Amino acid sequence: RPFAPLALLTLQDCAGVQSAFDPSGAEAERINALSWLLILSSVAVLVAVCLITAGALFGSERWRARISGERLVIGGGLVFPILVLSILLSYGFYLMGPGSPARRADGRLRVEVVGERWWWRVTYVDESGRRVESANEIRLPVGRPVGVELTSADVIHSFWVPRLAGKLDMIPGRTNSLTLQATKAGISRGQCAEYCGGAHAFMSFYVIAMPEDQFAAWLEQEAGDAQIPTGADETAGQTLFLSSGCVACHSVRGTEARGTIGPDLTHVGSRHSLAAATLENDVSAFARWIRDGEHVKPENLMPPYDIFTEAELAQLSSYLDQLR
Ligand code: CUA
Repeated sequence: RPFAPLALLTLQDCAGVQSAFDPSGAEAERINALSWLLILSSVAVLVAVCLITAGALFGSERWRARISGERLVIGGGLVFPILVLSILLSYGFYLMGPGSPARRADGRLRVEVVGERWWWRVTYVDESGRRVESANEIRLPVGRPVGVELTSADVIHSFWVPRLAGKLDMIPGRTNSLTLQATKAGISRGQCAEYCGGAHAFMSFYVIAMPEDQFAAWLEQEAGDAQIPTGADETAGQTLFLSSGCVACHSVRGTEARGTIGPDLTHVGSRHSLAAATLENDVSAFARWIRDGEHVKPENLMPPYDIFTEAELAQLSSYLDQLR
């Protein structure tokens, strides 16, 4: 019982949506293999050193004579480390080179990701050059190597989805390329891995890997304009949205909302999370975010909107929720 928290720390963290030890991408599988090799060899070396030290302290005269002097210096100080480090280094090089799976994206789909304080601007560019803008979530077709181009609009961020690949910095004025290849369908979590200011810890996102046909259908849906509201609440919510300043920062394609400062909201209701993976996406989360954003995600750059009544908040939430 008293060790339960410890067990949680050591074991539970190795599985799950954000674990490098639970890979679901080609690159991450190699990183996982290399990590385990390094961990196990380090443990083996540590055990060997402990045994030799114990032998030196408590062993018989004969044993102590065997491991003393020049033998220890040459064997343990030169030959052994050169041998072990060379083997590990060669294996690392092999994994990065000939042992690596297809590293080049096939060019049929490109995803541009721009790090912003403190969210992710995501644009899909398909074969025909069509650009589909979204935010805070990346969807990928399983099995296909997809080129991801990373840059930043303000400060240095770092793009890291441990289950898919290693991390790569997002630097203003520069584009870094990464290839993501999901090996199975499912959800993975990514996190900004470079301190970038106040809400850095809340700058996360989900990557959803889907079978090819489902992905194609999803991209068609995502490329389309926003659904026109039908219900009374949703319609009232849209009117509020378009008249309350939201449009200065946010876009909803198919309406007059064409702001580009904040995340595109055209299909925000269909996303897995809100506020860059800070809140689970449901109707009440929209109201919470609009009214209480500074508590939910301290220092985020959306101004607090406490101008709405409860009824208005509910209408706005219904409108945003049905944007699927
Ligand atoms: Cu963006 Cu840390």
